[in-house]
Amino acid sequence: MCGIVGYIGTKEAAPIILDGLSKLEYRGYDSAGMAVYDGHKINISKSVGRLKVLEELTHGGETMKGCVGIGHTRWATHGAPSTTNAHPHFNKKETICVVHNGIIENYIALRRKLTAKGYEFVSETDTEVVAHLLDYYYKGNPLEAITKVLHRVEGSYALGVVFAEHPDQLFAVRKDSPLIVGQNTDGCYIASDVPAVLKYTRKVYYVDNQEIVRLRGDHMHFYTVDEEELEKEAVYIDWDANAAEKAGYEHFMLKEMYEQPKTVTDTLSPRIQDDDIVIEELNMTDEELSAIKKIHIVACGSAYHAGMTGKYVLEGLARIPVEVDLASEFRYRDPILEEGAMVVVISQSGETADTLAALREAKKRGFRVLGIVNVVGSSIAREADSVMYTWAGPEIAVATTKAYSAQLIALYLLAMKFANVRKTVAQEEMKEMLEDLKKLPDQIELLLGNKKRIQRFANRYVGAKDIFFVGRGIDYAISLEGSLKLKEISYIHSEAYAAGELKHGTISLIEEGTLVAAVATQQHLYAKTVSNMVEVKARGAFVLAVTNEGNHDIEKVADYVIYIPETHPLFANSLAIIPLQLFGYYVAVGKGCDVDKPRNLAKSVTVE
Ligand code: G6P
Repeated sequence: MCGIVGYIGTKEAAPIILDGLSKLEYRGYDSAGMAVYDGHKINISKSVGRLKVLEELTHGGETMKGCVGIGHTRWATHGAPSTTNAHPHFNKKETICVVHNGIIENYIALRRKLTAKGYEFVSETDTEVVAHLLDYYYKGNPLEAITKVLHRVEGSYALGVVFAEHPDQLFAVRKDSPLIVGQNTDGCYIASDVPAVLKYTRKVYYVDNQEIVRLRGDHMHFYTVDEEELEKEAVYIDWDANAAEKAGYEHFMLKEMYEQPKTVTDTLSPRIQDDDIVIEELNMTDEELSAIKKIHIVACGSAYHAGMTGKYVLEGLARIPVEVDLASEFRYRDPILEEGAMVVVISQSGETADTLAALREAKKRGFRVLGIVNVVGSSIAREADSVMYTWAGPEIAVATTKAYSAQLIALYLLAMKFANVRKTVAQEEMKEMLEDLKKLPDQIELLLGNKKRIQRFANRYVGAKDIFFVGRGIDYAISLEGSLKLKEISYIHSEAYAAGELKHGTISLIEEGTLVAAVATQQHLYAKTVSNMVEVKARGAFVLAVTNEGNHDIEKVADYVIYIPETHPLFANSLAIIPLQLFGYYVAVGKGCDVDKPRNLAKSVTVE
């Protein structure tokens, strides 16, 4: 959601900015722009739509000469996607230029005050107040002007700022929106996320809340909002650069689906030692773990769906009551957190605004927060009391696959750890579960090998109007994620329903030929789900079943069956989701959709 890239150094800035922005496309955007200082003045180019429009407009950056500049991909919040609303934004004299990610919450009041002082606004954005406010406070010292602005603006922001009078400097600032800075021998970089600079440098600094960075061609300095200089430690990124490239796959989403066996192994293996579950990063003694009376899982989107499965697994294994909340609901519902409660927030990006706010709410009330996070060094990772990383590596496709799979594994491990200390599962069963966990990567591989068959099936549904997913218990949680995958990338309307709830509403939507995907991996619920399949079939539905190997009698009811290998029932999600991800993917490919960058969506949702 909005991407920022900036550069100052000895090279041409525009091509570096365009290249960096292309690495942030996954964040979701609907317009783009950049500003480069040419030795005399700051020039701006902006365009609506894909980044390639801006690339064409500027001939790959050729027409914008200069060694200092900032660029932006905008995901519209205040004002429609248009060239006027696209960033960068100028002050009237066109001497101060700003790009912004986040929301200035008091922008209406600031806009009113600035208008009263004679400032004229050209865009509908909240960002433009920052440009004019900088102009208002600027008396020759850029750092002083920035700190004054930071004392006036409320909300979240990552900012890149260029002053025409100080072209040897570039400024970066952040509060509650992600921002990193990096350096190599050619210059210094700012970016919303590491992949944007990976090609140029591996030495990066995570900018903390309300820190200001002054970048020059060969060094940078960090300051507090009170202009005091700070010492910061660089982080060396050791990712394989290919991890952020497509590596021959047609889409990032397909590549990331294929990375799931590795992701599962990487998340699992460091935490299984001598047939025991070891989660050192929990930083909790067995006594502290035993004292936990309730768990609140809070997350958004697919992470929320992983959390729903987590509830079944934690309650099933450790007998701890679990509540699962959407972060956007949790933070405003004045949740009742009783003594002994622990909050688990789940997030791939570690930057989701609502999840971060829920974390802060829980901490404010004095509760311990565990983050299950993928992006190392992200805001949630830094603010949580303890962090269990999901080792999925960079996930680029907007629709999550491998990070979701890793979140499931983290939750299984957590549940097993709790079960161990609370002695709620017999040793023998625990051993079998460990064996089942270790088999998951190969089993996922096997299911991925089925892609041709699923592609053929998916091709029949490119013209579908509605597709429904049903299941009970964990199968319902799987259905929610299967349905989300399909609708977010193929734009086909889809709903997931608890199978037993069908006849209270959704069944009226079933028409001749409507596809209903029924997930039936939970043996104790199998007969019940089969009855629901019979009900929809009687009303004309075409039934796709996802069930365990051995349940061959399902073929009497289902029109099409996908079998998953044997595993512990509480781990079935990790297997059953694979064909559903492939199904969603191939329907979207068949329809010619922009699979990795679906319309209107953002990978990292940094606004409420
Ligand atoms: C966005 C993404 C989803 C993701 C959700 C939560 O909507 O498109 O794929 O599940 O945000 O994101 P998080 O980074 O907190 O897991």
